[in-house]
Amino acid sequence: MAGPPQTNIAERLAEWAGWFDARLDRLLAPAAGVPKVLGDAVRYAAGSGGKRVRPFIVTRLCELCGGSREDALPAAAALECVHAFSLVHDDLPAMDDDDFRRGRPTCHKAFGEAIAILAGDALLALAFELLTKRMMDPLKAARAVGELARGTGWAGMIGGQVNDILGEKLPPDAALVSDIHCGKTARLFEAAGRLGAITAGADEPRTTAAGTFGHRLGLAFQVADDILDVTGSAAEMGKAVAKDAAAGKQTYPAAVGLQESRRIARELADQAIGALDPFGHDADDLRQLVRFAIDRKR
Ligand code: IPE
Ligand code: IPE
Ligand code: MG
Ligand code: MG
Ligand code: MG
Repeated sequence: MAGPPQTNIAERLAEWAGWFDARLDRLLAPAAGVPKVLGDAVRYAAGSGGKRVRPFIVTRLCELCGGSREDALPAAAALECVHAFSLVHDDLPAMDDDDFRRGRPTCHKAFGEAIAILAGDALLALAFELLTKRMMDPLKAARAVGELARGTGWAGMIGGQVNDILGEKLPPDAALVSDIHCGKTARLFEAAGRLGAITAGADEPRTTAAGTFGHRLGLAFQVADDILDVTGSAAEMGKAVAKDAAAGKQTYPAAVGLQESRRIARELADQAIGALDPFGHDADDLRQLVRFAIDRKR
């Protein structure tokens, strides 16, 4: 499946990310009484430099279901806050112990461990504050809160991160890798798709398709991340590489080798593209996004 050149979607994502970053910056203006260092750490962690793939998915699914960029913004920003929180805690010495993220020192390297932990906590709370404060329709807001909580919580990203840490002590196992990827990454991507549909008031079949698309893309995205940890460059990634094997992480490259990992990534990508069928040609940019997710260098 050749598809249009990747630069199209890379440029489109970057253009949209400029729009999103400016709005996120305003949404993260600290309220009165917020300790300065906490406001600085939150904005440092969530600020520009990320690819913004998850909020882009929220936005495009909202548009494909009849909503606008503006309609999607509270949910898109909330999801990115959860993602930023997950990265701050993922990088802590007690977890992956990383010094660089998005090409600069990790939050705990810049602000110290205590403030980084608390900034992550604050980002999680802020995500739900954004949904309840900025989504005008209370029914949609309530659904969005439930979706984001489910994607984030003990059966979602956080549960997956627990299994990722426990898995370091176990021999490489492809079924375990799949389970960990589903929790730590795909659940939030699934929430991204569903939140986009929900903010537009989509029906159940379209909401389900949006969630399936996100889930499959999330799995492919994490396989690509694990491959890039083996084959990628730290300069391009903006974070250290060659760390997963040293930490004994459960990854497909460790369990089944690089070639089979690439095949799995392509298979998952095809499944993600298949889930876009109900959205027709209007979703062509998301088909490109799937290719971008597995062919990317950062
Ligand atoms: C990194 O996510 C963590 C994974 C789930 C692989 P991204 O690759 O989306 O990180 P940013 O937001 O672009 O920095
Ligand atoms: C990312 O997995 C999962 C979450 C942050 C939830 P990784 O630990 O592989 O992500 P990177 O490689 O540090 O970005
Ligand atoms: Mg990790
Ligand atoms: Mg990590
Ligand atoms: Mg990784």
